[in-house]
Order: sequence, then C-alpha cells, then structure tokens
Amino acid sequence: MDRIRIRGGKPLKGKIPISGAKNAALPLLAACLLTDEKLTLGNVPHLADITTMANLLGQHGVGLSLNGAHPKQGFAGRTIELTANKIASITAPYDLVRKMRASIVVLGPLLARCGEAKVSLPGGCAIGTRPVDLHISALERLGADIELDQGYIHARAPKGLRGAEIIFPMVTVTGTENIMMAAALAKGDTTIVNAAREPEVADLAQCLTAMGAEIEGIGTDKLRIKGQGRLHGAYHSVIPDRIEAGTFAMAAAITNGDVELLGARLEHIQTVARLLAEAGVSIEETAGGLRVRRANGMLQGVDMMTEPFPGFPTDLQAQLMALMCVAGGASMITETIFENRFMHVPELRRMGASITVHNASAMIRGVKQLTGAPVMATDLRASVSLALAGLAAEGETTLNRVYHLDRGYERLEDKLSACGADIERIREQDEAA
Ligand code: UD1
Repeated sequence: MDRIRIRGGKPLKGKIPISGAKNAALPLLAACLLTDEKLTLGNVPHLADITTMANLLGQHGVGLSLNGAHPKQGFAGRTIELTANKIASITAPYDLVRKMRASIVVLGPLLARCGEAKVSLPGGCAIGTRPVDLHISALERLGADIELDQGYIHARAPKGLRGAEIIFPMVTVTGTENIMMAAALAKGDTTIVNAAREPEVADLAQCLTAMGAEIEGIGTDKLRIKGQGRLHGAYHSVIPDRIEAGTFAMAAAITNGDVELLGARLEHIQTVARLLAEAGVSIEETAGGLRVRRANGMLQGVDMMTEPFPGFPTDLQAQLMALMCVAGGASMITETIFENRFMHVPELRRMGASITVHNASAMIRGVKQLTGAPVMATDLRASVSLALAGLAAEGETTLNRVYHLDRGYERLEDKLSACGADIERIREQDEAA
C-alpha cells in the first residue's frame, strides 16, 4: 500500500488547479443510463472513484470511451463519452457497490429506463451507518415495487414510474439525485420538497436539462420535474470541486502560505469563506479563481456546525479541525450530518493536538506547534485532514492507507509539492525494491 511522507513547515506558495468535482461527476456518469444516445462529459477528474463508477457502468453494458490520457504534467480533466444503447444487466453487484456507496445513484436511472433494477445495499462505512431508506421510500412513491432480497434492493415498475410529490424528511444529496433522474423519465410531474441544494445536485439538473428534461427550481429546495417519454444525448462539463478548493484553502492557511486556486468558485464556498474570514484567512476572487492567505499572519479559533448546503459542508469538517488545531484560542466543531465522523481526532492527537469530543461536538484548543508522526487514514476527508496537519507540523509525518485519499483527490502530492510542500508518495514497489 502506498504511503505519503510529509516534512512540515513549508508555506505553500503558487497556483493549484482545481479538478472537476467528484461528487458531481459520479451521478452525471450514471445519468447516461437514462438515454440510448451518447452522453459526453467534460472536466471529469482522474480519481479511483470515477474508475469504480466506470467499471460499474461497463458491467451494465454502457460503452465508454475515454479521451485524454492521464496527463503526466498538468491536470486537464478528462472527457468521457458514454453510450447506454443496450442495458446488458440491471444488477449492480455487491463487489462493486461495497467499494463505493455512491454506486446507489444507478438505482433511479436503471429503474426508470428498464422498469427493473437490482442494486446491492451499500452497507455501513467508516463514517456511519448511512442508510438508503429515503431513496427506497421515494421510489415507492413513484410507483416502484421494492423488495429487499439477500442484501439487494430489487425494484420493479413494469408499467413505468409515475410522477408524485416527494417530501424528504431530511436532506439527502444522492437521494435527491436518484429521484430527480428517475422522475425525468416518469409519466407526469414530480415535486421534490426539501431537496438537496448542493451545487452538485444543480449540476446534475443542468445536465438532465441538456438531455431534454424539464426541471424547475434548480438550486432551490423545491424541484419540479416534468417527466419525459425519452431523453437524448448531450455534452456537459463537470463543475469544479468545491471540497478540493476548500481543502487547499485550508492548506494555504495552515502553512501561512499564499495560494491561488485556479478555477475555484466563491459562490460554491461562501459559508466556508465567511468562516475562514472570521478565523483570519482572506479569500479574494481573482481573474483565474480565488487567492487565499492569512489576513494578518494570525489564526483565530472559530465555532462551526456542519449543515446541508448552503451551510458548512461535512466534507470539510475534518480539514477545518486540522486548521483549528493551530489557531489561537478554542473552537467548537459540531457534526450534524454523520454520526461517526471524528475518526481523525485520535490521529490528530497523536500529532500533539488538544481535542476533546463530547457526543457530536469536538472542542479544540489551539497549540503552538503540531509534531509529525506516523498516522493512519480512515476515510477520504479524515485522511486529507492529517495531510494538512502534516504540512504544518514540525518534523516528518507518514500517512498510511493512502488509497482513501486517491478516491477523491487527484495527485494531491503533486499539487502540493508544486507549491513548495515537502511531500512525496512512497510507492509500495519502491519499498519492496
Ligand atoms: C453525499 C456526498 C458525501 C457528503 C454527503 C453529505 C456524494 C457522492 N456523496 O453523500 O460526500 O458527505 O452527501 O453532504 O455526493 N440518510 C438517511 N437515509 C437515506 C439517505 C440519507 O438516513 O436514505 C442520512 C445519512 O445517513 C446522513 C444524511 O442523511 O446522515 C445525509 O446523507 P446524504 O446527503 O444522503 O449523503 P450521501 O448522498 O450519501
């Protein structure tokens, strides 16, 4: 297994290109199942999760062609052409779904297109139990007959889905995406109340519109979808990754650096930018993206609670905690979305952080200096928070289980070392040699 070694203490200086958003690209790839024509997606990031989704779609019979080889230099997104003119299998098998929970987004499109779908239940993951009951009950409202059978969700709608009013009792991102895709091919109109407003949901809605769907209320918590008999092919370019942008903003802040995030959009990270401003970090719009640096050299502890968009994203909670570990004073971070998302805390403590956890809240007392240590990644965002801590720490940090990072960050070590970080990947084969 690869590891990442960081020698901390170098301020980041330079430009970091922001890749296409993983969480936008995954449902966009699944949207190809809604039409027999070609869907072309641009600015797709080079990530392990994208490969997993491509493999899943391939086994459903989707023809895929990748344009743009993985670049040695630069970070140009890839263009992917997907043609689902024949669905070879309606089953998403356990072996692929267990690798990536987001595989659940094939359920809505497969059911709407084929009248039947069988998708493995994703099961728990490192950050909590993460059920999919809201996806299931909403599809039932659209007329699907659903059985849970030997670990699989078996959904049938032989006469097609029909529009309905769906009221989500809590905000679910992939739940909203699944239902939006299913409703686009249902008979009649669907209203989704308490829909997720995340930019990735809006990006999917824009792509579906380009494919011929009629969706009102894009970007709001009430979506109205007029079902269509069929959708057609389209071209769509994936939005930049706001979580990657927020992560690198915190990397700039934690190292007292000065970084331009190329392609990043302020409207996607307004809440994050406001909170970082309170903490003493300035984020300014530039012609190419966003410039991030400390306003007056000091960092100040701030309180934060994770919330659905436009609130502070849970996917940046661990990174903010790393930053707060070296801020002046205390800060309180409360996680409201997932029940087990403080796995980074014991690892940060091993680097000298002062953190106490009470239920869903963590109290962080800033320390002058973190110290490097061997640490273990437990999930995607926890692992990147340890990399941030390593960039600020005195001495050497070795991050184990880097495959978590590779699921969601495109060549993190290359982007950071181009800005002066002392960071390198130790490949398994190098160690064996
Ligand atoms: C998506 C993101 C993930 C992010 C999360 C919250 C993708 C591919 N992943 O995950 O990175 O952390 O949004 O912003 O876009 N819930 C239920 N029943 C359901 C569905 C959800 O109880 O049927 C609960 C979840 O356990 C969680 C909350 O609702 O507590 C929000 O989860 P949800 O928005 O669905 O997260 P994902 O779509 O899985």
